[in-house]
Amino acid sequence: MATSQRIAVYPGSFDPLTNGHVDIIRRGARLFDRIVVAILVNEQKTPMFTTEDRVAMVREAFAGEPSVGVEMFDGLLVEFAARHGAGAIVRGLRAVSDFEYEFQMALMNRRLDARVETVFMMPAAEYSYISSRLVKEVVMVGGSVTGLVP
Ligand code: PNS
Repeated sequence: MATSQRIAVYPGSFDPLTNGHVDIIRRGARLFDRIVVAILVNEQKTPMFTTEDRVAMVREAFAGEPSVGVEMFDGLLVEFAARHGAGAIVRGLRAVSDFEYEFQMALMNRRLDARVETVFMMPAAEYSYISSRLVKEVVMVGGSVTGLVP
């Protein structure tokens, strides 16, 4: 069925979901009619949280916000986007250091499917240093991550 809805996918590992991700999802939800958080099922990486747990975290954080969906995916992101009728891929940019990787992914995705546009969004400055990797590192050595994760 054809739809005039503007749908975006927001892909990532989300291991775990941070307040930086939450900020980007909320910004995306203001730009698009629907934003689907797409959680990569990656057998190669060894995540701290199972894919099911990561899905549950997003569901809980966005309970009561019907424009935010969450799904697992594997395989090509552009194929996931096409299956969901999404015309855009949302990615967060925190600092210049993110740029090179994001630039490569955006152009690779464009090569794979030129109909899907990558849209970069900046989180609030207070979240600009947060990453899932650092959150895990702090937790592993007994530090507090209050305010950094939902
Ligand atoms: O949060 P992350 O781990 O940086 O997210 C990376 C992700 C999931 C966006 C990326 O690895 C991805 O899209 N993987 C799916 C495979 C794919 O489509 N690769 C080709 C485009 S680079």
